[in-house]
Amino acid sequence: MCGLNGVWAITLLKDKLRKIIFLRSLKTRIFLILLLVGLIPCVSMRYAILQNYERRAVNIRTSDITAQLRILANHLITYHYLQDTASEVINAELSQLSGLYDGRVMIINSDLRIVKDTYGISENKTIISEEVVRCIKGESDSKYDRDNGYIEMTIPIIETLAAGGSGAGGGAGAREAVRGVMLVSASTDSIMATMDTLSRQALIIEVIVMLAILVCSVLAAKVLIHPFEKITEALDQAQEGYTDDPISVTDCIETEHIGDAFNRVLGRMKVLDDSRQEFVSNVSHELKTPITSMKVLADSLLAQNDVPVEVYQDFMADITAEIEREDKIINDLLSLVKMDRTAADMNVAEVDINVLVELIMRRLRPIAQKRDVELVYESLRPVTAAVDEVKITLVISNLVENAIKYNKEHGWVKVTLDADHQFFTLTVADSGIGIPEDAVDQIYERFYRVDKSRSREIGGTGLGLSIARNAIMMHRGSIRVESRIDEGTTFTVKIPLSYIPA
Ligand SMILES: Nc1ncnc2c1ncn2[C@@H]1O[C@H](COP(=O)(O)OP(=O)(O)OP(=O)(O)O)[C@@H](O)[C@H]1O
Ligand SMILES: [Mg+2]
Repeated sequence: MCGLNGVWAITLLKDKLRKIIFLRSLKTRIFLILLLVGLIPCVSMRYAILQNYERRAVNIRTSDITAQLRILANHLITYHYLQDTASEVINAELSQLSGLYDGRVMIINSDLRIVKDTYGISENKTIISEEVVRCIKGESDSKYDRDNGYIEMTIPIIETLAAGGSGAGGGAGAREAVRGVMLVSASTDSIMATMDTLSRQALIIEVIVMLAILVCSVLAAKVLIHPFEKITEALDQAQEGYTDDPISVTDCIETEHIGDAFNRVLGRMKVLDDSRQEFVSNVSHELKTPITSMKVLADSLLAQNDVPVEVYQDFMADITAEIEREDKIINDLLSLVKMDRTAADMNVAEVDINVLVELIMRRLRPIAQKRDVELVYESLRPVTAAVDEVKITLVISNLVENAIKYNKEHGWVKVTLDADHQFFTLTVADSGIGIPEDAVDQIYERFYRVDKSRSREIGGTGLGLSIARNAIMMHRGSIRVESRIDEGTTFTVKIPLSYIPA
């Protein structure tokens, strides 16, 4: 629960941060990153230097005091101070020591009684502390209390005894006996004061470095962003004037890539725009042609008086043919427009493809017979597929119609249907005039016809293959063509057996 809340809070924070406009600016980000990169080492270096100084200063202070205390311990034994604290020499040494380190020295005898306290408040009291007891056993100790600002140390007062009993001269068999303990608290105020001074100096240096980084990061952000500002300017200019001039900002590789990508988009937009314009002019031209013919026919009838009925009938037949042509163009255009829309218009159902092909072949057979073209259908296996029947009908009929139209006398058209576990394949092969190699890539374009005069004579508008290809694409299928001039053409269409929605 807590974890989820945490994630939710972070997401909310991220959203909020993203909404802060200035964080979305690349310039600000670069500036902040540089600032952080400069600041982090600066602050951590100050921290590390101060820490190091403190450790070293405390160590030096501790070893200094230890050395002094060891000398003092010897004097204490020599002057029998533990038994009698009247020695002025030792008392002077003790007060000098406590003055020097701004601290307190306590001399404790082996009965744990305080024989001397430089503060004069605990004399003759018994002290039972862990450190003192350990020290009586010969273990010296030192402890740094940072919060209260002092170092506490315990040093054993050791008497060296000659072998075989007390007496002068240690020699080879000498042994040592702990006679008491010195407990010292030395102030570390002077160390802290030095540290404060150091810290203040470091802070001043830090502020100066920070200001330098600030200035550098502002400059760096400006320099780094400059090429992007240039490219924005170039894009704005391109948009305002809609110029065809390619954008080129060669300041850095990134802006060059952006410029190239934009030029590619611009190029594609231009191609689309050109093809749209071409399409509109083609549509107007194609729609106008039958109307112009009809007008010419009607005008010539009107211009003559007493026209024989046969001529009337002849002209009217021509006018009807033109109306049919106009009707076909409009229907084809409507099919294309429908297919340009989304796949939402797909009306998918299980269709027996064999039955469908046979039906289309039966419909087209009279046209084939009229042109003396033999129509053959070979089905290699039964095929049912989930397709839009109307659209697939358009595909098959357009291909077979073309194969008949662009054929030769006594020619043939062979339609073959086959399938595997994924696709069904329809091939439409003919013995016709073939498609020139340089035209193969264009045959799917709207209104494209290889031989315009011939197509017009036969009655084509150049929309059939473009309709067929759109319908195939909507089924996520493919269309391929192989052709040889004067030998024939084979179109191969592959459509998935199950419909794959977008
Ligand atoms: N089987 C074929 N053999 C030779 N040329 C072909 C064949 N199929 C198509 N073409 C060529 O490709 C062009 C485009 O074909 P498409 O079917 O798109 O238009 P069309 O047949 O001229 O007119 P529409 O089909 O709209 O009535 C045709 O004009 C023709 O030149
Ligand atoms: Mg056609």
